[in-house]
Amino acid sequence: MAVVEQSENMVGGYHRAGEAELAHLPGKPSRIPLKGTIDFIKDPLGTTMQAHADYGNVYKSRTFMQWSVSMLGPDALEAVLMDKEKNFSSRAGWHHMLSRLFSDGLMLRDFDDHRAHRKIMQVAFKPAPMKDYLLRMNGGIDQRLDEWAKAPAFNFYPQIKQLTLDLGASVFLGIDAGPEARKINQAFVDEVAASISIVRRPVPGLKMYKGVKARQFLSDLFGRLIEERRGAETPGDDMFSQLCHAESDEGQMLTDQEIIDHMNFLLMAAHDTTTSSLTTMIWALAAHPEWQERIRREVAEIGGEHLSYEDVAKMDVAERVFKEALRMIPPVPFIPRRVVREFEFEGIRIPAGANVSVSPGYVHMMPELWTEPTKFDPDRFSPNRAEDRNHRFAWAPFGGGAHKCLGMHFAYMQVKAFAFQLLQRFEVKIEPGYEPKWARIPIPKPLDGLPVKLEKL
Ligand code: HEM
Repeated sequence: MAVVEQSENMVGGYHRAGEAELAHLPGKPSRIPLKGTIDFIKDPLGTTMQAHADYGNVYKSRTFMQWSVSMLGPDALEAVLMDKEKNFSSRAGWHHMLSRLFSDGLMLRDFDDHRAHRKIMQVAFKPAPMKDYLLRMNGGIDQRLDEWAKAPAFNFYPQIKQLTLDLGASVFLGIDAGPEARKINQAFVDEVAASISIVRRPVPGLKMYKGVKARQFLSDLFGRLIEERRGAETPGDDMFSQLCHAESDEGQMLTDQEIIDHMNFLLMAAHDTTTSSLTTMIWALAAHPEWQERIRREVAEIGGEHLSYEDVAKMDVAERVFKEALRMIPPVPFIPRRVVREFEFEGIRIPAGANVSVSPGYVHMMPELWTEPTKFDPDRFSPNRAEDRNHRFAWAPFGGGAHKCLGMHFAYMQVKAFAFQLLQRFEVKIEPGYEPKWARIPIPKPLDGLPVKLEKL
């Protein structure tokens, strides 16, 4: 245990601050061990709001066996994410949760090294490959809707999770549905489950053990695929092939190991976030059928059975609804960093080594920024109201600054492609008055899976 603690304290060469170094900050742990963590897991937003009422914008707390400093409000998001003075490490911030299984992914890199990798990876998100991804998505969505039509009452969350997994195997890896895709999906699910497990060591029989084995399986598979894809004369139309051929302006390419690390991380970054936000969006649409109708009118004006790349930007109403879903239940409600150089925020000194956390989830519910923040009201994003412009970081579900989500446009495209087909074919219904209970962290999901019924139009 001591060894693990020590290496975690010195991750990436950055020391981790303990209680003594944070003594000058307000906030105290509960007298009952683990109570703070349990309360936080049950209701992260509620406990954050209470702590804000008790201590203000900056306070310390002990959750998940670590001390960390919460910095609340849009100015905190801006200071930490824009990071003008290079005070914060994303690598060390995410280390505890992600390093064993998703090591050396983009969020686990800092500063110049991060910038160099991000530049190469951006090649895979340019318009030409994005067009290809959309074609793959459209086919997969169409097929799945045919299946849903045959059994139209189901729990939405597990079904959309399966669909985003299947689309992931196709779009990210170029592997169509079948036994290989199923094995990949299972390995990936095991990895993600391990990344959020409480026991962090790979003890046989426990989640981390399965997760480490799954990573090995995927790494071996990716290794074999790299040889095949690099050998092809022109890159294939999937993201993996793009990364195998991607070059920076200076002609630098990724090594095999770097491709393995990035691919592994990309699948994780893309999957549960999109699943979660699509679930929120569908719940909101089912509860507010007038918005289904508005999107349907928009889709009818665009025309066609599938969304084309040229028409993605025309789905303005769908975009507003998606933005509102991301505001109300952001998939990444808290963003961690480790302080690498002491700094001051609102007159309070935060020492080097402190884990800090900023919270889009909290900011999205601030009445100072949003009218009736708990109300579903997509028109708050309309040009004449533009509540998201009340502060540069009033709305930040994709983060901001150097680490801002690389897949943001990809996510918009996938969600719009899904809404385009779904709402053309079906009315989505839930029981009147139904409201799901959510597990809010690590990534929000409805506890009962969100029972829905699709009615053919
Ligand atoms: C609704 C869906 C999504 C949400 C809400 C979301 C949210 C985020 C957030 C908040 C971050 C920044 C974390 C930080 O600063 O520490 C991030 C980073 C990232 N996301 Fe997303 N994401 C989504 C979908 C995707 C998709 C579909 C992909 C890939 C196709 C993707 C790839 C990435 C990558 C590679 C990073 C790391 C960027 C970097 O470190 O430079 N994300 N995402």
